[in-house]
Amino acid sequence: MLKKILVIHGPNLNLLGQREPAVYGRITLKQINNELIKVAKKKKVNLKIVQSNHEGEIVDLIGKSKAKYSALLINPAAYTHTSVAIRDAIAAANMLTVEVHLSNIYSREEFRQKSLISPVVQGTIMGFGAKSYILGLEALLDLIHK
Ligand code: DQA
Repeated sequence: MLKKILVIHGPNLNLLGQREPAVYGRITLKQINNELIKVAKKKKVNLKIVQSNHEGEIVDLIGKSKAKYSALLINPAAYTHTSVAIRDAIAAANMLTVEVHLSNIYSREEFRQKSLISPVVQGTIMGFGAKSYILGLEALLDLIHK
């Protein structure tokens, strides 16, 4: 059976392409998703990709994901720095999870220089723009096949 990986994009990532291009570049979410799908096809895994601006919706999604998916790739966006609820949902799901960020959060404003999510995931990849997602997916695939 094909493995299924859940990809979650957090708040405002739907605006990529127009949003703060000096920080996030010109690439759109659709282009990032297409790149991810290309890699997934090559590696023979299925992706379910969701973008949400709502914390509770992301919590619900993670809560239901353990039964359906082999692993989680998540950019929690602004919730990275604030959401105990998303952190707890990931810890409770206890599934292989990689956190990604387009930007290097440690080179930005002080309020971004902490991730509540990093302590409950296998690893975090940041600072490589859209490539962070591809590296994150590849890292997850390695973990799944271990
Ligand atoms: C982000 C970094 C966050 O601080 C920010 O709120 C985002 C995007 C990133 O991918 O670099 O929305 O997660």
